[in-house]
Amino acid sequence: MRADDVRSSFLEFFAARGHRVVPSSPVIPHGDPTLLFTNAGMNQFKDVFLGTGTRDYTRAVNTQKCIRVSGKHNDLEEVGYDTYHHTFFEMLGNWSFGDYYKAEAIAWAWELLTCVWQLPPERLFATVHHTDDESFELWRRHLPDDRILRFGDRDNFWEMGETGPCGPCTEIHYDRTPDCSGRLLVNAGTQQVIEIWNNVFIQYNRTADGALHELPRKHVDTGMGLERITAVLQGKQSNYDTDLFTPLIARLEELSGKRYEQELRSPIGVAMRVMADHVRALSFAIADGALPGNEGRGYVLRRILRRAVRYGRNLGFEQPALYRLVEVLAEIMGSAFPEVREHRQTIERVIRAEEEMFLATLDRGLERFATIAARAKARGERVLSGEDAFLLYDSFGFPLDLTELMAREEGLAVDHAGFERLMAEQRERSRQAQKRYHAEVVVPALEAESEFVGYDTLECESRIVAVEGNAIALAATPFYVESGGQVSDTGTIEVEGETFIVGDVQRVGNAIVHICDRPVPLSLRGSSARARVDAERRWNIQRNHTATHLVHEALRRVLGDHVKQSGSLVAPDRLRFDFSHFGKVTPDQMRQIEQIVNEKILERVPVETRILPIDQARQIPGVKMFFGDKYGDIVRVVVVDEKFSVEFCGGTHVHNTSEIGLFALTDESAIAAGVRRIEAVTGWGLAGYIERLRGAYQEKAAEHAQLTERMHSLERQLDKLRFEQMVAELLPKLLSSARSVGGVRVVTGTVPVQSAEHLRLVAEALRQRLAHGGIGLLAAQLDGKLQLVCAVTDDLAAHYHAGKLVSTIAARLGGKGGGRPTLATAGARDVEQLDAVLSEFPHLVEQWSTHD
Ligand code: ALA
Repeated sequence: MRADDVRSSFLEFFAARGHRVVPSSPVIPHGDPTLLFTNAGMNQFKDVFLGTGTRDYTRAVNTQKCIRVSGKHNDLEEVGYDTYHHTFFEMLGNWSFGDYYKAEAIAWAWELLTCVWQLPPERLFATVHHTDDESFELWRRHLPDDRILRFGDRDNFWEMGETGPCGPCTEIHYDRTPDCSGRLLVNAGTQQVIEIWNNVFIQYNRTADGALHELPRKHVDTGMGLERITAVLQGKQSNYDTDLFTPLIARLEELSGKRYEQELRSPIGVAMRVMADHVRALSFAIADGALPGNEGRGYVLRRILRRAVRYGRNLGFEQPALYRLVEVLAEIMGSAFPEVREHRQTIERVIRAEEEMFLATLDRGLERFATIAARAKARGERVLSGEDAFLLYDSFGFPLDLTELMAREEGLAVDHAGFERLMAEQRERSRQAQKRYHAEVVVPALEAESEFVGYDTLECESRIVAVEGNAIALAATPFYVESGGQVSDTGTIEVEGETFIVGDVQRVGNAIVHICDRPVPLSLRGSSARARVDAERRWNIQRNHTATHLVHEALRRVLGDHVKQSGSLVAPDRLRFDFSHFGKVTPDQMRQIEQIVNEKILERVPVETRILPIDQARQIPGVKMFFGDKYGDIVRVVVVDEKFSVEFCGGTHVHNTSEIGLFALTDESAIAAGVRRIEAVTGWGLAGYIERLRGAYQEKAAEHAQLTERMHSLERQLDKLRFEQMVAELLPKLLSSARSVGGVRVVTGTVPVQSAEHLRLVAEALRQRLAHGGIGLLAAQLDGKLQLVCAVTDDLAAHYHAGKLVSTIAARLGGKGGGRPTLATAGARDVEQLDAVLSEFPHLVEQWSTHD
């Protein structure tokens, strides 16, 4: 059975059971700040599960394009090393929205696998959540008890991310061992027994505080990796041996002259799998409108690409090679996903340009890495410094995870916090430089008219109405031109197979002018073009724009009605808001402002825009407008809860405040007399801010730990010096007070020490100083008890036994002790008697000798 047939038979099976066949959503999710990439079939139904959205069907089936390279579901490190994890894969899924539940889900899964696809039942295992007796019972209809296994949350409780819909699940595993003996290999991470299907019973929502909330209705959410089930149905051990991958591998063999079959376990085999895998994630992401870049999602793609290029070195590729797989991929996937075929040229161009860029520095970077690693090893270090990792990043384009991968191959780690600190410094520098660059762009005069369509769409097909130098004007464009503080969009324009990268947009007369990365041939005038805004960046901007409206109102509520906006900047990574206010905004007021904004975000308020005659708009209670601005007869008004914020605004916004993610103020300052400035971050900007804080915190914590350790070591040294000084002063006094009894010098005394150990050390020092013919008895009071030590010089040890002496003395003071003939200790209680007993000690020594 070909992979295309596996896919269609799955869809048909569930369609015949009342399921609506729905298209895959893009791999780039729009409007969910908790996700960088679509990571499961259920993503597009999240709102249905949470009860905030509905569909006109209650059963659905599809094949969903998924990418799992970040966040909760991240398989990147496994890819290439095993044969069944991928950065990009297709998830076949069927869903019930409050319709059927466990019984039907399990029965149909069994029927499809064993009746339609005829998998041998003796090769199947089911796992259930250890508390889910109902599923266990349902499986008993099909499987013997010893093939139904219970596991805990780690394996049988599925969650989309840190927050969101979740619930217990039952999984089906396939046993490839020759004698079906794989029971103990279930969930053991081997290709001998692999999970093929997960049936999740969605019944909770996990919120940011970690709590689980029961959902109003119960749902079924299933997921089966097409690549795995295809391998099973085709009798292959490895996903890479199915028709989803073999043409890619064949192309790699052709390009490299190496044979995959002979290299399955070697670095060459790994590299072939990595490249065949990575080209899929990259192609689908680009087809859905993402581009490699320097931040967020774009940077994840760049990292994947650079990883692939570096593995390509194992295959001897010195020139761009990855892009040459796109043609093959379009062939394999084109019938199910026409977008790869449609955008093939763009995908190739983007990948090839990225490859060229990285290859330009790869060799020198690899050399530099080798030097750095060798130097670290020679010095016996286990960790590469943040400076070295940053140098590799900054001068040679090595993403941190690539450096880590290579370091791991050498048995080394990398200093993360140090790297992050240098990154933060660099971001600040480029921010300053960016400001200067913007001032220098020269916009040519163009005569044309453009319509802005970017409120409703981020991508459109339009005609080129003017061309000049690096600039293109379109009849209609989704690109927003800087206005009202919101910065211009960036993105691409594709025309006749060429992709121009748009770095800036400006308004010239009635035209919207896109400033491109290179000169645009005049012949393109009149051609039709596809304009695509960098969607991730735009979403970040929109989060900040809606947050600006929220913070404006929050400022008024906390500081008072005198707060008037005097300027703002709405950028992808942060927002800035200037306003009239005398005096500082106190930390407590800052907290209140954040609280109000975050409440509005978590309230999930829809954001509406209304187009109204100006006279009507002016009448809205509490409406915010800027008296300096000129307005036409018809105005656009953005409403976030009529009682909260209604503002005249031409900018673009999120559809619901929840899409902002979360909000934090990062700075407050004065910019002129009576004008304050606040700066804030949302969504990904906030994630980056936390990362920087964490880096700074970890660094401080490490510094603190070092200081504490140093302080303790100094304290220990000081204690030792004090003690030595005390002993130095004490010994001469003790020796001069010695009494001579029958030729033996006897020393007694109390000593101001803090521990029994110190007392023992003093006694030993005394013994050394007496050298021969001497006996000492020293005492100290520690915590209200007595501690005694008796010391006898070596030459007397045959006649006097320190242990016996000290225990005799201790007995008289209500205690006991003992030890070696030359040094012995005792504890006792009777503090009152100490002086008397000490002064009698010489007599005791005397009697001892006569008695002897
Ligand atoms: N949503 C479930 C998964 O991704 C089916 O495993």
